[in-house]
Amino acid sequence: MRNRTTFILGFLFFVSIVVIGMMANQLKINKENANENGAPTENEAPPTEVAGIAHNPPSMEDLPEGELGEAILRGYNLTNDTSTILRDEAASVEDGEARVNQLSCTSCHAGAGLDEEVSSLVGMAAVYPMYIGRSGQIVTLEERINGCMVRSMDGQKFADDDEDLDAMVAYLTYISEGIPVGAELPWRHQNSIDNLPTPNIADGEELYQKSCIACHAADGAGTGSNTGPKLWGEGSFNDGAGIARMTKMAGYIQNNMPIGAAGTLTDQEASDLAAFVLSQDRPEWGKHDKDWPAGGRPSDIMTKELRQQVKDGTINWDEVLGTKK
Ligand code: HEC
Ligand code: HEC
Repeated sequence: MRNRTTFILGFLFFVSIVVIGMMANQLKINKENANENGAPTENEAPPTEVAGIAHNPPSMEDLPEGELGEAILRGYNLTNDTSTILRDEAASVEDGEARVNQLSCTSCHAGAGLDEEVSSLVGMAAVYPMYIGRSGQIVTLEERINGCMVRSMDGQKFADDDEDLDAMVAYLTYISEGIPVGAELPWRHQNSIDNLPTPNIADGEELYQKSCIACHAADGAGTGSNTGPKLWGEGSFNDGAGIARMTKMAGYIQNNMPIGAAGTLTDQEASDLAAFVLSQDRPEWGKHDKDWPAGGRPSDIMTKELRQQVKDGTINWDEVLGTKK
């Protein structure tokens, strides 16, 4: 009897070791399939089941009572209506100057960052602080929010003690509930296309006038931060923003646009559209020379210099896109 129990226990132990080994191996495979950004190398479905991390943020209907609940709601509203709120409220306006452009976080992180498909912000409180190559250091969640404030929102940083910054962190922490610290989130970094084909800007413009102007207007000025945000010109993101890179703009457009027919554009069309949008004038980022201090600066950031080369017809797309011919 005793021997039999020992045998069964031993057998169960053996089985669990094998299962754990298989799981560890699978995780390793997932890691190997990811590039340094944590993005899958192919456009395959992300391994949600294997990682076991579900995109299932708690509802905004179930907020905790009291100050915490109020801060979370404030953070949600700031994420969804960023420029309107920061513009209209005296506390956020310095010397009569609004702190931000005319976008909202929702302009790129759809549905206040709750849409799994469109640069979701779910889980961010679980993955930051983390190392960011562009900054060359470990970045906190507060600093990452400020990164989008000064680049994508072409504005000013929140001060460390700004209650609005605390509110945004409270919101992002709330929607990260249940996600283990350091988890690999399958919905992160999905909007990028490697090996983009050489763009044709005239084709991009033609397609833009056909498929995009209903929401973003013929001159790119948009119809509203959450209905069709500004794509270029004053009030749009500056050229230090992540989406000012060809690979990220093309990936974002292909995965998410045009709304209602997302996923229908070819790599060539996405490249044409990205090149058309990013060759238009936009606010400049003043500190390009401080970015990527440890090296590794990508070649596809559409700076003023590259926009000028597009106008002059001297741009070398192979160099910009890192294409080896
Ligand atoms: C013009 C588009 C745009 C706007 C507007 C924008 N972001 Fe972002 N945001 C991005 C892009 C692009 C990335 C990088 C995603 C990637 O690397 O794949 C990013 C990354 C982030 C990240 C880190 C995501 C990660 O997975 O590490 C956070 C947090 C974030 N944004 C918060 C915000 C907040 C808060 C706002 C509003 C104050 C905002 N963003 C406005 C485009 C935007
Ligand atoms: C039916 C309306 C609609 C159409 C058509 C549409 N968009 Fe958008 N676009 C939006 C909305 C709304 C957002 C905000 C994010 C979201 O809700 O997904 C957005 C966001 C964007 C963004 C990121 C925000 C920014 O300011 O840069 C880009 C880039 C973009 N669209 C490009 C395009 C392109 C290119 C096309 C044509 C292929 C297109 N869109 C067609 C509604 C539309």
